[in-house]
Amino acid sequence: MAYRANEERYQSMKYARCGRSGVKLPLISLGLWNNFGGIDTHENSRAMVLRAFDLGVTHMDLANNYGPPPGSAEETFGRILKSDLGSYRDELIISTKAGYHMWPGPYGEWGSRKYLVASLDQSLKRMGLDYVDIFYSHRPDPDTPIEETMGALDHAVRQGKALYVGISSYSPEQTTKALAELKRLGTPLLIHQPYYHMLSRGLEDGLLDVLEAEGVGSIAFCPLGQGLLTDKYLGGIPQDSRLAKKAGFIQESQVSEANIAALRKLNDIASERGQSLAQMALAWVLRGGRVTSALIGASKVRQIEENIKALDKLEFTAEELKRVQDIITTVKF
Ligand SMILES: NC(=O)c1ccc[n+]([C@@H]2O[C@H](COP(=O)([O-])OP(=O)(O)OC[C@H]3O[C@@H](n4cnc5c(N)ncnc54)[C@H](OP(=O)(O)O)[C@@H]3O)[C@@H](O)[C@H]2O)c1
Repeated sequence: MAYRANEERYQSMKYARCGRSGVKLPLISLGLWNNFGGIDTHENSRAMVLRAFDLGVTHMDLANNYGPPPGSAEETFGRILKSDLGSYRDELIISTKAGYHMWPGPYGEWGSRKYLVASLDQSLKRMGLDYVDIFYSHRPDPDTPIEETMGALDHAVRQGKALYVGISSYSPEQTTKALAELKRLGTPLLIHQPYYHMLSRGLEDGLLDVLEAEGVGSIAFCPLGQGLLTDKYLGGIPQDSRLAKKAGFIQESQVSEANIAALRKLNDIASERGQSLAQMALAWVLRGGRVTSALIGASKVRQIEENIKALDKLEFTAEELKRVQDIITTVKF
């Protein structure tokens, strides 16, 4: 049946300005790293993307290598655009990235202009798009001058193949250099995509300060610690979990008895707040409005529905934050 978007899709989602740009992002965005590949059931991937859009998730995050196999998540998303979402293109912020391994030889990964320019062309072809909204350098390249990598991002914008540019997993120092070069080129840095959740707080060691000072937005990836910060592992390792499937980089050592005991205590605090652990973990990432958006993954429609309800209660009392802090410092991650 032809898809028609929910008419109420903008009524419950909240949107935040991305740094000092003109663009707003939903507080919860959807990433297509896992469960949208060629090995996955297309109908489930499609159902998740459409349900997210129906709930006001206007931002879908991809990368050249998402799958498996690499490239296939962009193909899946291209199919969904063609069958359902094409007429809503102007309501969507679609991002892709290049940085990790995509094809053999010296030009298939990292941060050269050669690789980034070719990769974006491939991504556009796979998704059937003329342009993406955000094109990212997926990781810093220790061997390519940052001027070259930023020059390639600037080139993508000048070619009309990207509207904005972003960087992911750059340190505060690398970010400062990238910012300076992009400023010189006249293409502002819209967004940084860092790894950030309750159990991994590197973003707070200087990077967030740089981003805020420079008016750059941030979108936290793996805000649920790949599923660890939900109730899913509290009673063992479910068969259909990312850990059981050995997907992503979640480790069995992370579900040790001691960690699970700590996660149960977090789960109790979430219950007192009237939330699930996943909802509290997302509210925590977004606390105080310093991070623009939490970039979730999902394997089922109901996870997306549950996670978006985090927005019903984003505030924490000082006491709750202290209790959470005391617990998370005990977790070995
Ligand atoms: N820039 C980068 O280098 C980088 C790296 C990694 C990810 N990312 C981006 O970040 C996005 C999100 O990463 P992620 O998938 O690791 O994020 P995440 O939100 O931390 O974890 C998502 C996983 O947690 C489980 N889950 C989600 N909601 C749940 C719920 N309510 N109850 C129980 N389990 C739930 C699902 O796993 P199950 O399969 O176990 O159900 C789901 O696939 C990616 O898609 C990608 O766009 C970027």
